[in-house]
Amino acid sequence: MKVLVVGGAGYIGSHTVYELIRAGHEVVVLDNLSTGRRHSVHPEARFYEADIRNHSDIAEVLQAETSLAPIDVTMHFAAKLIVPESVDHPLEYYQNNVEGLRTLLGVLVEFDISRIVFSSTAAVYGQPADGICREDDQTKPINPYGETKLAAEKMIHWVAAAHQMQYCIFRYFNVAGADASLEIGLDKDQLTHLIPLIMQTALGLREMFYIFGNDYDTPDGTCVRDYIHVTDLAKAHVAGAKYLLETDQSLIANLGSGSGYSVKEVLDTALTLFDLPYQYDERRPGDPDRLTADITRAREILGWQPELDLLAILESDYNFRRKLIADSL
Ligand code: UFG
Repeated sequence: MKVLVVGGAGYIGSHTVYELIRAGHEVVVLDNLSTGRRHSVHPEARFYEADIRNHSDIAEVLQAETSLAPIDVTMHFAAKLIVPESVDHPLEYYQNNVEGLRTLLGVLVEFDISRIVFSSTAAVYGQPADGICREDDQTKPINPYGETKLAAEKMIHWVAAAHQMQYCIFRYFNVAGADASLEIGLDKDQLTHLIPLIMQTALGLREMFYIFGNDYDTPDGTCVRDYIHVTDLAKAHVAGAKYLLETDQSLIANLGSGSGYSVKEVLDTALTLFDLPYQYDERRPGDPDRLTADITRAREILGWQPELDLLAILESDYNFRRKLIADSL
């Protein structure tokens, strides 16, 4: 199949491009390189620098590509995704995540591209009472990031109904780790996510690792999350695109590991591998106590199963970060 990957130079997008190419598919990448990296785009993918908020940018790419061969599926990864940043700058999140999607969907409708795989998030659930998120549960975001993704999900639903499109909306839990080749990983200037910050501290790039809050409603007081390896997540996207091609159905599915770990448990697992200094700090705004995925639906409908555990996630992020340091010397 021929897949347009919007945001294919970013972290999850670039890993999905690698998995699509490994599975023998043709890939076109569109990215504005605001956070993505040109060198993260697989050499066998065709790359266009373009911004999803610019209608003519996207239309030009689709004109060029659809004149070669039809695009079977679009995957849309281009979005802002940092919870605390969204609390401070909600308008930027609405502009990128909602307005950007509206523009993209408009062009897809014009070019009659009818299948989309969309990156959503566990943040749409807010704080479920038992901490376990099932797709049919109530959605009640507690931060602007989750709100913009929920608005995006609803937009896709209504546009799909009006224009005979099919969609696969994936609600990601906490994605981490790097491709086994170590060619790509989470490579950004401003890292905020738990696992990369632990690893940067272990590698001596930071003096101290801070645990944000120890008075949450969890067994050890630190927040519980569900960590999934980016390669497992990328493979689910290949399965999702195949599902759209082979059925006339749409799907909303959680992508996580199905297991929850507290921040302290993640840190303790890392401490079995390396030593690092840490201390407790204040709560971070916008953090729910517990978020763990029920992944029954993705398992049953897509036949997908995560294969890499927390230790593998930690090791691969560490190895990627060590390679970044070696490459910069
Ligand atoms: N944390 C620390 N110290 C740090 C960094 C993070 O204690 O230095 C804590 C956070 O407070 C939080 C947990 O680690 O409790 C995880 O934080 P991340 O920043 O790694 O990830 P989030 O849970 O905030 O968000 C991620 C994605 C979202 C997704 C969410 C779903 O960025 O897109 O997971 O669980 F919605």
